[in-house]
Amino acid sequence: MTTEALKGEILAALADAASPEAVEAVRVAALGKSGSITQLMKSLGRMDADERLRTAPLYQALRETVSAEIEAKKAALGRAALEARLAAERVDMSLPATPVEPGTVHPISQVMDELSEIFADLGFAVAEGPEIETDWHNFTALNIPPEHPARAMHDTFYARPEAGGERMVLRTHTSPVQIRTMMSQKPPIRIIAPGRVYRSDSDATHTPMFHQVEGLVIDRNIHLGHLKWTLETFVKAFFEVDDVTLRLRPSFFPFTEPSVEVDVGCSWEGGTLKVGGTASWLEILGAGMVHPRVIANCGLDPDEWQGFAFGCGIDRLAMLKYGMTDLRAFFDADLRWLKHFGFAALDVPTLSAGVGA
Ligand code: DAH
Repeated sequence: MTTEALKGEILAALADAASPEAVEAVRVAALGKSGSITQLMKSLGRMDADERLRTAPLYQALRETVSAEIEAKKAALGRAALEARLAAERVDMSLPATPVEPGTVHPISQVMDELSEIFADLGFAVAEGPEIETDWHNFTALNIPPEHPARAMHDTFYARPEAGGERMVLRTHTSPVQIRTMMSQKPPIRIIAPGRVYRSDSDATHTPMFHQVEGLVIDRNIHLGHLKWTLETFVKAFFEVDDVTLRLRPSFFPFTEPSVEVDVGCSWEGGTLKVGGTASWLEILGAGMVHPRVIANCGLDPDEWQGFAFGCGIDRLAMLKYGMTDLRAFFDADLRWLKHFGFAALDVPTLSAGVGA
């Protein structure tokens, strides 16, 4: 067969090849190990010098032409495949989206964001801890040893004892985050720790799961005055009233000394609560100076470091500020309630726009 005839045959086969696999088969048949062109190239070795000089350029030209045509066909098929895919995957951007009703931000999430915003402005970071907590972090390290009567006040959910006899608990308050923070960070410390807590209790004002925010400041020369100023600043920003009176009543918590319970002055006009004035008082949180033993339990020297702490129910803050009366409705996931009391997702609280936006 002449090289011209062979070329015609290969290019015809190539023209018929409609897939990358078919093109590859043509390539192997022509240029593969025992392909027709490869055979021709091999035959050059058996020719005498004159014949080879005449024939070699013909064969080489044939090989180059066929290789180039095969490459071109491969590229064309690739482009066609890409175009077909692009056409199949086209999205019609002009189609109207299926309308999705926007959800709302739960009042508790909203209040947590408000708290973070207010305390961030005062230089507090947000800390976290686990909800399934060791007995030691939840009680012992907080100066509530086993058999201490204060444990009975907490209606604790205990997990089954582990092999070593240790029982994990669902944390009954956010105070164990104080311990975790003091053990993992060097003072000065300024944190708040909002989160879920659990107690075996249920009525209109108690649910087995509820929310607290813990506050902790550890530094040198911290005193009760710092605590009072911080709480006053927080309550003013949170309720958006300047005329706020706080009343600190002596109290007892094992992890603070002295301990106080803090009431905010308020009035009830026509059945609705108004924060401000001193006509009536509403307890909002527990607080105190961190007990030296708690500081020592975390490996810090209580002669060098002091601080204050506070713990506050978030659900209660939300009820007071936004006027809900039954705590249980918070956790019913009733869409009508959520639509009524929830917040728009883009309604992010900022101090400048008002945290109660
Ligand atoms: N952990 C306490 C509770 O759940 C609240 C509390 C009181 C936290 C005083 C504190 C504090 O940090 O200083 O009842």
